[in-house]
Amino acid sequence: MAKKTVLVSGGAGFIGSHVTVELISAGHDVVVADNMSNCDMTCFEGVKKITGREDLPFIKMDFCNAAEVDKLFSEYPIDAVIHFAAFKAVGESVEEPVKYYKNNLISFLNVLETASKRGCNVLFSSSATVYGEPDKLPVTEESPRQPATSPYGNTKQICEDILSDTVKATGGKIKGIALRYFNPIGAHPSALIGELPRGVPNNLVPFITQTAIGKRECLSIFGNDYPTPDGTCQRDYIDIVDLAKAHVFAVTRMIDGKMKKDYEIFNVGTGRPVSVLELVNAFEKVNGLKLNYRFAPRRAGDVTAIWADPTLANEEMGWKAERTVEETLASAWAWEKHLAGK
Ligand code: WQD
Repeated sequence: MAKKTVLVSGGAGFIGSHVTVELISAGHDVVVADNMSNCDMTCFEGVKKITGREDLPFIKMDFCNAAEVDKLFSEYPIDAVIHFAAFKAVGESVEEPVKYYKNNLISFLNVLETASKRGCNVLFSSSATVYGEPDKLPVTEESPRQPATSPYGNTKQICEDILSDTVKATGGKIKGIALRYFNPIGAHPSALIGELPRGVPNNLVPFITQTAIGKRECLSIFGNDYPTPDGTCQRDYIDIVDLAKAHVFAVTRMIDGKMKKDYEIFNVGTGRPVSVLELVNAFEKVNGLKLNYRFAPRRAGDVTAIWADPTLANEEMGWKAERTVEETLASAWAWEKHLAGK
């Protein structure tokens, strides 16, 4: 595999920083760009420490500004772009749809416009949210997309379509891959990078670790009357390092000309359903502690159960989730303790 330059937009965030580490360890050059609207430099500094790359290029910029995007592409010999730069809070997107459509669509359109002019391949960070409440489990890439239940989810669907249309319009001059993430959790084994939610976490694992460290009093488990084995929702929790490695496989596939179609979609999940209660129990067991939790009413908008069929990614990309949920939950706890200086 030839060494290539990969632009990671939104590269200072949770997923972007882990992806940057894996790209560098696979031998690529990486350019990190971020507007820092939802993170600080903690993860970028962590990436530099883990990789020993003090000279790692970082550009603070706004992907909604077309001129800035164009300038970035003219300054670096970018072969592929992995696009993370987007807002991601589901609830906030319901309250402020214009903010979400404007940011998530315009930034992606700017990236695509420049990338297609320059013949640069594009990897888009999509989400299992496009499947909505599935009729059949597990979901494959062929499972129908359901109407989005939030503007955030809608931006993922729209961006997938924009990517597919653009790839088609260039006649395959540029290639595109959409990775549909299930529930990314955990942190790098070094505990130098991880998830840094602002304010009260919406997602389950940061809420668990913040409760365990004493920042939150009690975890509410949203609903124990779902039609699942223990009554709580089931998800496919994918380790963040495993997820990051899927990007290296995908980028390599694009750059090395191994794609079967000009636009491809892959599920990035483990294929294992885990309930909220199972996750809480596993967290307690692996970290040797008791978590303060209670059952609370269902949260609006939650689907009962969703997990991936990851066969396509396993067989086509040669990628497979490797870390156990216990290892992942231990890494999430190590990161929370690192943040607390413990
Ligand atoms: C998981 C389970 C909750 C918090 C969301 C987005 C998705 C993707 C990832 C990201 C559910 C339960 C949670 C809590 C709880 N987007 N829960 N108590 O909703 O599956 O997916 O994040 O940027 O698009 O929709 O993830 O971690 O919020 O919830 O009981 O305090 O944990 O009800 O069953 P979700 P989550």
